[in-house]
Amino acid sequence: MKSNRAANFGNWILERMPLSNLWNDHMAHYYAPKNFNFWYFFGSLALLVLVNQFLTGILLTMNYKPDAKLAFDSVEYIMREVHWGWLVRYMHSTGASAFFVVVYLHMFRGMMYGSFKHPRELIWIFGMLLFVALMAEAFMGYLLPWGQMSYWGAQVIISLFSAIPVIGEDLSLWVRGDYVVSDATLNRFFAFHVIAIPLALVMLVLLHIMALHEVGSNNPDGVNIKKLKDENHIPLDGIPFHPYYTVKDIVGVAVFLFFFATVIFYMPEMGGYFLEHANFIPADPLKTPEHIAPLWYFTPFYAILRAVPDKFAGVIGMGGAIVVLFLLPWLDRSPIRSIRYRGGLYKKALLLFVISFLALGYLGTQPATPLATTFARLFTVIYFGFFLLMPLYTRWEKSKPLPTRVTHTPTLEERIPVFIATFKEMTVSQPITTKNGTTLLSRRPDLTGIINVTIRLAKKLKDSLD
Ligand code: HEM
Repeated sequence: MKSNRAANFGNWILERMPLSNLWNDHMAHYYAPKNFNFWYFFGSLALLVLVNQFLTGILLTMNYKPDAKLAFDSVEYIMREVHWGWLVRYMHSTGASAFFVVVYLHMFRGMMYGSFKHPRELIWIFGMLLFVALMAEAFMGYLLPWGQMSYWGAQVIISLFSAIPVIGEDLSLWVRGDYVVSDATLNRFFAFHVIAIPLALVMLVLLHIMALHEVGSNNPDGVNIKKLKDENHIPLDGIPFHPYYTVKDIVGVAVFLFFFATVIFYMPEMGGYFLEHANFIPADPLKTPEHIAPLWYFTPFYAILRAVPDKFAGVIGMGGAIVVLFLLPWLDRSPIRSIRYRGGLYKKALLLFVISFLALGYLGTQPATPLATTFARLFTVIYFGFFLLMPLYTRWEKSKPLPTRVTHTPTLEERIPVFIATFKEMTVSQPITTKNGTTLLSRRPDLTGIINVTIRLAKKLKDSLD
């Protein structure tokens, strides 16, 4: 009787709302390539972190006070007095860093497998708009605790606008709403952080996924699965997203939550990288901290800003580092998408790009000594070289033949024996006698084994770069 009523209610809704069509179009009848690998976890993880940020953000807003006199204390109140307040806050602050970890890996996947190339340019553009919105969201959120770094970080970044000729001074005054960062700035950043940008993020995620489902997902081989279909017009290399990838993504979620919880419970500040030490001191407009650095996810761009001697040129450089990413679909002239079948030039260029991005990220956290600045300049040149020379090297290089069907990637079960064999090769077993006389078998590192494995891996890396 009860289930009948529930079914009737369900039908009543479905007759009035196309929910089952929506579910079928985007989940049960959406055919995704069957060779998705590890790198395909990060899209759904980005969605998960987005939901985490919304839920914890709503709870934080219930006790946070967007007022320069009360903001810092209200965050302390959340940490000490509100039931589970510390957990909610750490979930939100760790979530912010996790968002960037996940999104950077998600973008890197796109660069490896050419997911930005025809016909997925628009997915990439919406993704980049998401990235910019995410940076704005994080920047404005960081002012809210009203600590020393919140205050001075905002002061430094907003004052960059004043480097723009003619309108610069007025523009930075307009953004701040005052001559210095103040209560007016805090109020407007709060409004943007809790409502305006989250709305933009949700809209952009919908557009991102709509654009993806219109043209279909790419895959690690970069081959078009829509070319080969069976008599029912189902791609031969496709599987329904639900239940296959919904279940697979749950595994990714479980592993992610394990790391996420470890950070929240054991290292929420992450040595000052997720929550900076100076931010535990209330904002003081009269006392500039000795070393001002943004949070880790902005440091590659911050290092580029500092590497350029002129302030305005530095701002252009920093903005340009983001703009070139938007242009990627048009800079890459290779007929091949996936790194698996591209020539060695793209692989080496991508490796150099990753090294320069990480190095700039590190240098951005360090004081700008002359040596650090020299290195930052070198890596800035490599960063831009990767993009600006791309039309040339992607045209020159000789690619490998592309398969017609997606290839088989070894599963985790297939890889486990290899992992065990490698572990055994790198260690030797050694009996240990415990205090009560029992003998246990333990393994200790074996130098010859470690060297052999390292040489093999280096050779493999060299071969794959050719
Ligand atoms: C809030 C941030 C983001 C969310 C929630 C998000 C979500 C997703 C999801 C769920 C997918 C499908 C699953 C997958 O392919 O992994 C996807 C695909 C994709 N995303 Fe994002 N994304 C975000 C940011 C970005 C950014 C910043 C970029 C790059 C600029 C980007 C580029 C792409 C591309 C190119 C694809 C298609 C990949 C393929 O088919 O191989 N996304 N995204």
